[in-house]
Amino acid sequence: MGSNLRTRPRRLRRDGIRPLVRESSLSATDLIAPIFIDATTDERVPIESMPGHERVPIHESVARVREVLATGVDTVLIFGIPSEKDSNGSRAWAGDGVVQRAVQRISTETPATIITDICLCEYTDHGHCGVIESEARESPTMTVKNDETLSLLGQTAVSHADAGADMVAPSSMTDGMVAAIRDDLDDASHSEVPIMSYAAKYESSFYGPFRDAADGAPSFGDRRHYQMDPGNSREAMREVGLDVDEGADILMVKPALAYLDIVNRVTDEFTQPVAAYNVSGEYAMIHAAADQGWLDLETTAHESLLSMKRAGADLIITYFAEQIADSL
Ligand code: PBG
Repeated sequence: MGSNLRTRPRRLRRDGIRPLVRESSLSATDLIAPIFIDATTDERVPIESMPGHERVPIHESVARVREVLATGVDTVLIFGIPSEKDSNGSRAWAGDGVVQRAVQRISTETPATIITDICLCEYTDHGHCGVIESEARESPTMTVKNDETLSLLGQTAVSHADAGADMVAPSSMTDGMVAAIRDDLDDASHSEVPIMSYAAKYESSFYGPFRDAADGAPSFGDRRHYQMDPGNSREAMREVGLDVDEGADILMVKPALAYLDIVNRVTDEFTQPVAAYNVSGEYAMIHAAADQGWLDLETTAHESLLSMKRAGADLIITYFAEQIADSL
């Protein structure tokens, strides 16, 4: 029996043809694996809300990176949990700080590409991403002192580059952070070290598990006066534009899944490479549902990451990196 259907999109969905016409794909070289190095422990400590992830002691940092490399992922993003915290976060830029010591080892003993997170929240005793007004401590109107924080971020970035970091990723949403870090890196002869800016970083509930993992939750108040309002999109273009003007090399949108419209807009409006950060809460959600038998872990994770590529992301920072790379 004849049919008057001339166009049948299903023709291209047959096995053997489907892969030929696929527009987006994932590869291990798109993925960046975050790892947690902890100066307060001698043993690996599982992170409860991020199944499969651990805080590892400094002496295991090379072993941890080798596990990542074995999956085909070449790049790690390093977070540190310092031995001590104080009001300024001074262990963030200490030459013998946790990230600095780990990066020295990893850069000499492995071929991994090393990116370091630049922020003070893991290092300050109050858990905010910069220096705070001491008189405002505990007050709901407390604000992080923007300009006083800039030189501390710059010093931290230089100390990471001195230790051997290949790239730095400032995440504090401090106005002017990219320019301050660029100037300090250049003055310290690190003009070849790129900056991947957390350019559009939202004040998000999806960071919950990370704050347990990195022990960086604010001890009072929240981050609404420095991270972006989830209701805003045009503001993201303004934030990203500023970072571009200040010299950002790679533009990050964070979180990813609930912000794919922003990923897409940034890739449309700017020419720099765009990174999407598939954050801890996005990871924990899929794990929790998979534990219940409600979702399939690997296919759901793969689909989420693929959607970030489809939205336009060039790179994806994800706690699924190792598992997905292994399955590709
Ligand atoms: C540090 C930082 C955070 C994340 C990355 N860098 C936490 C925050 O801003 O509260 C979150 C990462 C994640 O949830 O996976 N400022």
